[in-house]
Amino acid sequence: MPRHDNDQWDIVTSVGLTALAVAACRAIETKRADALIQDPFADALVSSAGTDFPVSAQLPHRGPDDESDFEEVWTYTASHMGVRSRFFDNFLHDSWHNGVTQAVILASGLDARAWRLDWPEGCSVYEIDQPKVLAYKDDVLAEEGARPRCARHAVAIDLREDWSAALERSGFDRSRPTAWLAEGLLPYLPDHAEEGLLKAVHELSAPGSRIAVEHMRAVRSVMQHFSSRYEQLAEQWGLDINDLFYDNDQRPDPDDRLAELGWQTNAALGSELAQAYGRTADGVPEDMSQHLRYVTAQLLPQPNGNR
Ligand SMILES: C[S@@+](CC[C@H](N)C(=O)[O-])C[C@H]1O[C@@H](n2cnc3c(N)ncnc32)[C@H](O)[C@@H]1O
Repeated sequence: MPRHDNDQWDIVTSVGLTALAVAACRAIETKRADALIQDPFADALVSSAGTDFPVSAQLPHRGPDDESDFEEVWTYTASHMGVRSRFFDNFLHDSWHNGVTQAVILASGLDARAWRLDWPEGCSVYEIDQPKVLAYKDDVLAEEGARPRCARHAVAIDLREDWSAALERSGFDRSRPTAWLAEGLLPYLPDHAEEGLLKAVHELSAPGSRIAVEHMRAVRSVMQHFSSRYEQLAEQWGLDINDLFYDNDQRPDPDDRLAELGWQTNAALGSELAQAYGRTADGVPEDMSQHLRYVTAQLLPQPNGNR
């Protein structure tokens, strides 16, 4: 079913399912001999969704008569999610080393960074996502006896609403430089919400703040090609993943929007990142590897102290 303005979800419906799928990829990545990240909570976060629900924390095995290329596509997807998670982990490490100790994870889903990374003293982490997604994660991690390794704050709100006010009410301090993460988020936002999100990030950012953003140009047309290979997943999930995305063909790139607001930006292709981390991009359609981008940006302190 296509999206609408006030749609809500839990972890096994609509956009919530994508958080579960990414956690499954992190569970698969964690078990690799050449793992790029370690997420000891990913297995529990996936399995607690119940066995009725078909997202597996194992790679599928192709049977002798199986002619689908689901195994190949899921193997690639899981591997790329490992690359993507490592990129965002590295971004946070880099931020700490530059004295940025406040982080906001926009659309945190089942991201367990607050529990799994070795945060330095004094770090605060704010996680924003829909209420049922955050509640599910909190319940599973509490059941596992996991404790956050930083001052972690859950901000349960929709990112199409006035999330800045909710973030500040949770204790976010706009006078501190912030590291912002937007991983696997933009395709699920309508244009006005994406524009509003980047403006709000700017308003709330002290000089020295940084952001890392995943961005896929022309997401629906690129994924349209890809989605014939995801048919098995669509069948299992009972939805077409392409219905979850908003058309973004006419949108400015997020780095252009940030540059206009005065941020210094950089972008790398997903395939470049994979190569840098020693992963090949076998099996990835060309248009996907050319459209998937990882943007970083910084709001540099001005010599006169103004923004
Ligand atoms: C693909 S998942 C990524 C989750 C997480 N960033 C990760 O990489 O594991 C997309 C996430 O975006 C969240 N999301 C999408 N649109 C949202 C909105 N309007 N408000 C709050 N969360 C949203 C979903 O609930 C889901 O957790």
